[in-house]
Amino acid sequence: MSKKYTILGIESSCDDTGVSIISTDGNSFKILFEKTASQIDIHKQYGGVIPEVAGRLHCEAIAPLLEEALSSVANIDAIAVTAMPGLITGLHVGVEAAKTLSYTKDIPLVGVHHIEGHIMSPLLNKGAAIDAVSFPLLALVVSGGHTQLVHVHEFGSYSVIGDTRDDAAGECFDKVGKLMGFIYPGGPKVSKAAIGHEDNIPLPRPMMHHDSLDFSFSGLKTAARYYLRDNPNADVGDVSASLEAAIVETLAYKTKKAAMQIGAKTVFVVGGVSANSALRESLATSLETQHIALIAPELAHCTDNAAMIACAATRRVMHGSFDSVSELTASPVGMLPQ
Ligand SMILES: Nc1ncnc2c1ncn2[C@@H]1O[C@H](COP(=O)(O)OP(=O)(O)OP(=O)(O)O)[C@@H](O)[C@H]1O
Ligand SMILES: [Mg+2]
Repeated sequence: MSKKYTILGIESSCDDTGVSIISTDGNSFKILFEKTASQIDIHKQYGGVIPEVAGRLHCEAIAPLLEEALSSVANIDAIAVTAMPGLITGLHVGVEAAKTLSYTKDIPLVGVHHIEGHIMSPLLNKGAAIDAVSFPLLALVVSGGHTQLVHVHEFGSYSVIGDTRDDAAGECFDKVGKLMGFIYPGGPKVSKAAIGHEDNIPLPRPMMHHDSLDFSFSGLKTAARYYLRDNPNADVGDVSASLEAAIVETLAYKTKKAAMQIGAKTVFVVGGVSANSALRESLATSLETQHIALIAPELAHCTDNAAMIACAATRRVMHGSFDSVSELTASPVGMLPQ
């Protein structure tokens, strides 16, 4: 029987304090504990995440979550923590908590790249396993801060082959949603308002037919803003449907192009925006014609969570490749491991 590892995950890179414990043999993943303290009710008063407030709220939430998690499992083999990228005020809290635990309890430590966590999140689905994933693998990362096409050579080795040149898709959903009066985060509300409405407002599909695999969403955001300014009585459902269609069409077109370019057999769509059902449907339809499998995380693991961070640390835990308590630092930016 293969050895099982129990890994504690900590996530605090934005506005969710997440703590999770997983058990893994390095191929499949079982969640033993999972809890997230969301700060959305506080930040929504300001229309977005206030970094200073986020840091304080992570400080309040993290110790009780860790206490509860650690009292539920007898033995932990390693601690995984999001070390980059994200809001530094939040990252510091998670990293310092992880280092303190590592030092005082003598448990090895692994700093994880947040986007690697998102990329591995579909492996938390029931019945999923690394050896069941057909490579070449492409990941479309669509979240509040990122819109990237990532060629996954193997888990642990990534090349970003397409990236947004300005705003992320999630940011575009949120900011236009805010202009329509939706409380932060606007993405899910835009998606709900779009149901039953037509894509009947001409909004641009920026960079869709550009040679590169890059995206741009700031022009779309501005176009929607001007449309709302010039049409104060615009139907919010129609604007939502048109915005969603513009974002989804662009993402699906570029994803198919990238998938064909690398000869992908599988596409993972991950991050908060991967909860969007129009995006899932459009990707599934366009990839099906090329016999490419589309896999998305369960809804609970689309947005930030600590189980995906524990999952992403597994390879290093198995190889005994740990970070030292004195050297691991939080960083607002950082590249995916290559
Ligand atoms: N159904 C939906 N349709 C569109 N957007 C959605 C939906 N659900 C969530 N989102 C968007 O997902 C984003 C949040 O995703 P996530 O938590 O992964 O981002 P983040 O952690 O803030 O950013 P990053 O991972 O890049 O650091 C928000 O922009 C939110 O509006
Ligand atoms: Mg995230």
